[in-house]
Amino acid sequence: MTRSLIVALGADHGGVALKNRLAAVLIEGGHQVQDFGTDGPASVDYPDFAHAVCAAVTEKRADFGILVCGTGIGMSITANRYPDIRCGLVHDVTTARLTRAHNDANVLALGARIIGEEVALDILGAFLSTPYEGGRHDRRLAKLNKTEPTE
Ligand code: RB5
Repeated sequence: MTRSLIVALGADHGGVALKNRLAAVLIEGGHQVQDFGTDGPASVDYPDFAHAVCAAVTEKRADFGILVCGTGIGMSITANRYPDIRCGLVHDVTTARLTRAHNDANVLALGARIIGEEVALDILGAFLSTPYEGGRHDRRLAKLNKTEPTE
């Protein structure tokens, strides 16, 4: 896949099965996994798991985060409230590649009820193996946390 990475994982009940599959694949690929749960089918609140993963990435305890819920939407909304998190909600390999290349995404959000497992695994590979392009994108990323219109 790529050099050995530390990947923080989190999911709610809608995403736990896919999260566990991704964890197994990452470990098989020689990566280190920090699994913040959830661990079973009981109904839980997705922000609790997004917060744990985003704290790990923000504090550089993990290289990347992966968040899985039913749609990926709640996870991505939560993650993108963190100033140093750039979370891409991704449904295919092309957006997985481009959110790394153009957005330097450090968190990947997936909707387990939206995409199939094979697509998710292809997304994982593309996300982790694509480098950020830099260049003109640096200027854009520098504007992400502005809360006033740019002149
Ligand atoms: C849980 O039912 C569902 O709302 C959650 O997994 C996610 O899709 C939220 O965005």
